Amino acid sequence: MKTINIAIDGPGGAGKSSISKAIAADLGFIHVDTGAMYRAIALYAVRNECTAPEQIRARIKDIDIELKFIGGVQRVMLCGEDVTDYIRSPEVTMAASKVSAVPEVREHLFDLQKKIAAENNIIMDGRDIGSVVLPNADLKIYLTASAEERASRRYLELREKPDCPTYEEILADIQQRDYNDMHREIAPLTQAEDAVLLDTTSMGFNEVVEHISAMIREIMD
Ligand code: DC
Repeated sequence: MKTINIAIDGPGGAGKSSISKAIAADLGFIHVDTGAMYRAIALYAVRNECTAPEQIRARIKDIDIELKFIGGVQRVMLCGEDVTDYIRSPEVTMAASKVSAVPEVREHLFDLQKKIAAENNIIMDGRDIGSVVLPNADLKIYLTASAEERASRRYLELREKPDCPTYEEILADIQQRDYNDMHREIAPLTQAEDAVLLDTTSMGFNEVVEHISAMIREIMD
């Protein structure tokens, strides 16, 4: 059976995951958050103090990553442990940006990402999905928003929490990650030639979800 594959790429904080999750639930697709896979490897690197490229390269064969879908919702398993709830800390976020630039780390995840897409109707989000992982995706979206808008959305999410970083700190973090993701040698963040650009700087969440869902319905008809 031919499966439907939707690729959503874009910089961190553009809302790819929450938007993909909402669309997937609506259409009965599986949402694959590839960033969580890199984050799980980063968690391993932080826990085992091996975040340097040569260290993670030497250990990569021992790092078993698996995805489980419970009611369509992704859980990421690291060497058999469900680490979904431990991969969003600032430390892991920065480590993920570093380890994802290591070619052996990307190769390690590539086959698993391809296999899930071949077997399921999916919305897969990341940085290189349309350009590298699923070049033949049925629809490719490049979802972005200005760095200032992404920082301000993140700040609004975090501001009630203890130890909330300042807006300026969040913005600097976002700009650093954008730079890392766009300038690495392998699979840098880029808009695939045939991707539809969607700048959500002045769009609401529901508006974006409806817009993309309508595009997907069109290709399914
Ligand atoms: O989307 P995210 O913030 O959860 O991604 C975590 C890190 O992983 C981010 O620095 C970019 C990297 N990443 C990547 O290189 N390729 C992907 N397909 C997904 C994420």
